[in-house]
Amino acid sequence: MKTMKIALLGCGTVGGGVARIFGEINPELNARANVSLVLDSIVEINPPAAIERFQLPASLFCGGGRLLQPDEASRYIDDLLASPEIDLVVETIGGTSDFVFDLCHRVIEAGKHLVTANKALLAERGRTLFDLAENKGVKIGFEAAVCGAIPIVKTIKENFTGDKILSISGIMNGTSNYILSRMQNESLEFGAALQLAQDNGYAEADPSLDINGGDAGHKLILLIKLAWGIDVSMDDLSIIGIENIGKEDIDFANEINAKIKLICYAKKINGDIYATVRPMMVKNNNFLSQVNGATNAVRVNNHYSGIHFLVGKGAGSGETAMSIVSDIVFIARYGERMKNTAAPQERIFADARQFVFPYLITFHTADVPGTTGFIATAIGNQNINIETVSHNRHTGEKAMFSVATMPSTFEKIEAAVEAIQRERPGLLLSEPKIMPILY
Ligand code: HSE
Repeated sequence: MKTMKIALLGCGTVGGGVARIFGEINPELNARANVSLVLDSIVEINPPAAIERFQLPASLFCGGGRLLQPDEASRYIDDLLASPEIDLVVETIGGTSDFVFDLCHRVIEAGKHLVTANKALLAERGRTLFDLAENKGVKIGFEAAVCGAIPIVKTIKENFTGDKILSISGIMNGTSNYILSRMQNESLEFGAALQLAQDNGYAEADPSLDINGGDAGHKLILLIKLAWGIDVSMDDLSIIGIENIGKEDIDFANEINAKIKLICYAKKINGDIYATVRPMMVKNNNFLSQVNGATNAVRVNNHYSGIHFLVGKGAGSGETAMSIVSDIVFIARYGERMKNTAAPQERIFADARQFVFPYLITFHTADVPGTTGFIATAIGNQNINIETVSHNRHTGEKAMFSVATMPSTFEKIEAAVEAIQRERPGLLLSEPKIMPILY
């Protein structure tokens, strides 16, 4: 049996989970790969914490399990990258710093396979790494980078190769879904629900990327590359997070039988790809509306095989580590025959403002007679059909109501709002919230 030696860089929540799985089921992994997989070395600045948390032998760690200074850790990494013995490197340090980018670049340059959960790095700086891997004939495994344990990368790359993907949508950030679910179920304000997410270990101390849609955007960028072979940037996606969702929005969602979810959405229409990340009003008869808490779900609609849902844990130590280990087994088993991503295609990315959805627009206005009629007329003037207008919530001098439209481009909705602001300055007390309705 061939042998594949693995170096693990970083032994925190995810890296430690990888080492634990190797400690527990290495013989089974070898049999599945038909290769003898050897976790050779771990470089970690704080081994004692990892040893205690994951019950690992100190001998696995460079330095024998003692604390390392950063320059010492760097020297161990240099040695491993220079060693012809190491075939595959697992990077679980994370982040998009030059240090981590250079590290991954050097791994590939050295002709070693790279397995990582680092969605931000691959989404923002991945093109160079994928191109280099192509030249070097090595593999980049990134199943763990998209929705943790959910096998969406291999599903698109391997299982759907006989189909044409029409659209991908889903809930790809567990923290924001946990927050929205608590707001929905317990009528909490955003701040209180975020605090609960932090208290229960879902949100990071700095949850910015989870709540501003950045983390979900990174995952969608990787899925677009896999499904259609094109590179898109965070700016292309016009990402909106959940920071501005309030209790009143949940109330408006209830009124149209919907739940607010942070949705990643990408669709190919007449050859053009439209994609965005933003809160959407998901109708209760759409399965995504029933996905609660930190669970992730991805919906893929295919030309020949129809709709598929993959649902599971999008984060966690064992969950994310499992995807890394499965990539290692795949690379060992199929090696040269695996493709990293779809063949590069011409960039055919459309302006998301032309994307057609029904929308829910929420207006916060002065409480003046004729306001609802004036706003509805302005919407009609853009040739947008209205489906329903909510009841008005009157609070003293102010009122709030929402308008659900029939399908329209975002551009036309924006034009209606601009006309309202231009023709009746001061009528709107805040910028209207505009959310697509997903059936
Ligand atoms: N923080 C992410 C989430 C998991 O809450 O889903 C890692 O991308």
